[in-house]
Amino acid sequence: MATPLTPILTAHWDDPDSFTIDGYSRHGGYDALPKALAMEPDAVIGLVKDTGLRGRGGAGFPTGLKWSFVPQNDGKPHYLVVNADESEPGACKDMPLLMANPHALVEGIIITCYAIRARHAFIYVRGEVPHAIRRVAAAVREAYQAGHIGTNIHGSGFDLDVVVHSGAGAYICGEETALLDSLEGRRGQPRLKPPFPAVAGLYASPTVVNNVETISNIPYIIRNGVDWFRQFGTEKSPGFKLFSVSGHVRNPGVYEAPLGITMRELIDYAGGMREGSELKFWVPGGSSVPMLTAEHLDLPMTYEAMAEAGTMLGTATPMVFDQTVSVVKTVTRWLEFYKHESCGKCTPCREGTSWMTGLLETFEAGHGQESDLQIIDDICHQIAGRSFCALGDAAATPFPGAMKYFRDEFVAGTHTSADDAFNPVASTVLAGASTR
Ligand SMILES: Cc1cc2nc3c(=O)[nH]c(=O)nc-3n(C[C@H](O)[C@H](O)[C@H](O)COP(=O)(O)O)c2cc1C
Ligand code: SF4
Repeated sequence: MATPLTPILTAHWDDPDSFTIDGYSRHGGYDALPKALAMEPDAVIGLVKDTGLRGRGGAGFPTGLKWSFVPQNDGKPHYLVVNADESEPGACKDMPLLMANPHALVEGIIITCYAIRARHAFIYVRGEVPHAIRRVAAAVREAYQAGHIGTNIHGSGFDLDVVVHSGAGAYICGEETALLDSLEGRRGQPRLKPPFPAVAGLYASPTVVNNVETISNIPYIIRNGVDWFRQFGTEKSPGFKLFSVSGHVRNPGVYEAPLGITMRELIDYAGGMREGSELKFWVPGGSSVPMLTAEHLDLPMTYEAMAEAGTMLGTATPMVFDQTVSVVKTVTRWLEFYKHESCGKCTPCREGTSWMTGLLETFEAGHGQESDLQIIDDICHQIAGRSFCALGDAAATPFPGAMKYFRDEFVAGTHTSADDAFNPVASTVLAGASTR
C-alpha cells in the first residue's frame, strides 16, 4: 500500500482564510500556547528533544538539542532567528508555508522563545518575496492584537517582541551566520564557527537559528505529543515533512508526507511524469545535493537512506528531470548560480566556482577537452572541506554527482579536433595549479 500523505501543516491550505488568525484558531490554532506556558521552559525543550525533530533547513540537526545548547542564567539576552531566506534552486516549501499558514510559525516562535528564554525574535525573510513578507507581517500584527505577543502574554509574566526583517536577495544570507551579520546591518558573509550561534550569535548573544518549517512544527508537537509525532517517519528521521516536488511531473507542488516515503510515491502523488516524459535523473533536496536516477526511486526519503545512497535529503525539495534535459547544461546552470552567489570571502570557493563554471561552459558549447574533466574534479576536491562555509561544499557537489551516472554526456561535449582546442580557462587553472 502506498504511504499515505499526512496533511498537518498543509491541512487547511485550501481554506480561503487559512492565513488569518481566525482561520488558524478555528482548527485548534493557539491552543498549544497556554499548554506550553503552563510547562517549565526546560520541559518544553525536553519534549522537543524526545520527538527527535530534525531541522528542516537542510542539515537535519536535532532541534531540541540545539535549543539545549543555549546557556541558561547567563545574564545575556537570548534571541530566536527564523531563517526564511529560502533561495536554494528547487526549494519551494517555506514560502508557500508562510503564505498559507503563517500563524503556525508565529505560534511556534512564541513557544520556542518561551523555551529558550528569549524576549526577542526575528523572522528574516528573503527580500524577493514581498507577498510573503506582507503576509507574515500581518500574522505578527494579528498575534499582537490578540495578546499572543507583547507584554505579560496571557498573564504568564512572559514578554516577547517579534520583528519581521526583509533580506536583500543574497543566497549566502541563508547561511545562519551570514544571516546574523546581515541582520546586524553588515555585509552578509559567514562567520568563523565556533563559536556557534547558540553561544555567541546575534549581537554576540546566545541565538537559536531555525528554519520556518522546523518552528512551524512546534505547535502541533506541543498539542499532540511525542508519540503522535514519532508515529510518522523512522527512528532516525521521525515526523512528517513538506516535499516540494518540481520539474517534469504533471502536478508540481508541495506534498506533506511522513519521512520515509519514496520518490516513486511522491511522483505518483504529483500525477506521474508528464505526457511523453521519462525520468532521467532527480535530486532529493535542491541543487546542493548529488543527483540520483530511476534506480533510486524506491529508496525511503530519510536522512539515513539518502546518505547511504551517496546523496543527502537536504531540504527535501526534489527536482525531477526527463530525457529532454542535458545533464551538462543543468550542472553548468547550477555552477553559474554558485559562482554568482559566492560571497568571495574565501579563495577555494571564490576562485573555484569561477574556474569550474568557465570549464563547464566549454563542455556545454561542445568544445570541452576530456582532460578538463579531471581538472574540474580536482577543483571540486580543492573546494569541498576547504571552504569557509557550506556554500563551497554545495558548489563542489553537482559535478561529481553527475559524473557518477552521466560521464558520457560530458565526454560528448568535448572538442573532436585537438588542433584548435586552446582553452584559456583550463590554461589559467593549470598555471595556477603549477604554482602551488
Ligand atoms: C549557502 C547556504 C544557504 C542556506 N539557506 C538556508 C535557508 O534559506 N533556509 C534555512 O532554513 N537554512 C538555510 N541554510 C542552513 C542554515 O545555515 C541553518 O543550518 C538552518 O537555518 C538551521 O535551521 P534548522 O536547524 O531548523 O534546519 C543555508 C546554508 C547555507 C550554507
Ligand atoms: S565558501 Fe563561498 S560563500 Fe562561503 S565564505 Fe567562502 S566564498 Fe563565501
